Amino acid sequence: MKLKDRLAFALDVPIEKAPDIIEKIGGRVGWVKMNFIFLEAYVLLAESGIDLFSMIRERGAKIWLDLKWSDIPNTVAGYVLASRGLGISMFNMHALSTIEMMKAGNKRAREVFGPDNRPLSIAISILTSIDQDKMNNELGIPGTVTDVVKRLAINAKKAGCDGIVSSMHEAGMIKKTCGDDFKVITPAIRFLEELKTDARDQKRLGIPSNAIAAGSDILVMGSSLIKGGVEAVERAYAEIEDGLKKRAA
Ligand code: C5P
Repeated sequence: MKLKDRLAFALDVPIEKAPDIIEKIGGRVGWVKMNFIFLEAYVLLAESGIDLFSMIRERGAKIWLDLKWSDIPNTVAGYVLASRGLGISMFNMHALSTIEMMKAGNKRAREVFGPDNRPLSIAISILTSIDQDKMNNELGIPGTVTDVVKRLAINAKKAGCDGIVSSMHEAGMIKKTCGDDFKVITPAIRFLEELKTDARDQKRLGIPSNAIAAGSDILVMGSSLIKGGVEAVERAYAEIEDGLKKRAA
């Protein structure tokens, strides 16, 4: 895996700031992850002709459509079909919404994009904004987060997904359970000095080098890179390289 592809930039900014930040960072990361901004980017294109999608691709980054689909199987298959003209290289679906749903999305992706050209299909496990207390007592899901993520990863693999999103704390277990080819993608990443002061919504956090050392393939970083710009991107890659060394040692 190329070093560049190990970092996904979460483009979580107001739409008017997006062109500038893509200009600065877009060429330096492997992935640009778009959620709410994906929708706004169409309005921007229609109203002002500014094409964020082309800007991202021209700088060599791939687009990850992060809409975390969760619905009945046929509707999720419909989302996959509807995304065929968007030039995306990754989409994701909630593993909690069943193997049948993920299978329906993956089947439609193979049909629509072709088995060799399809975007990566990634499952979402327990969100990193949820800790064990919330999972057990609010959502009523018993067990540890690790056990639940393990089950969801096995299900995602059975359904034909290419990998799963989890916190760094489950990364090693997922690799052991599902094999090295099954991708682990990890958000809730902060630089060390931000862990306590800048967690925001996140509950199950980690730093870049530890996440990579634990087995994560791709790190997702939003706020830290938005705040720190090019310097923060360079630091993230340096820490990723450290993590790879630690993993190999
Ligand atoms: O700012 P921060 O680095 O915390 O941004 C994390 C990004 O990762 C957000 O875009 C959020 O939607 C996404 N995310 C995710 N899966 C999770 C938690 C966060 O894709 N489990």
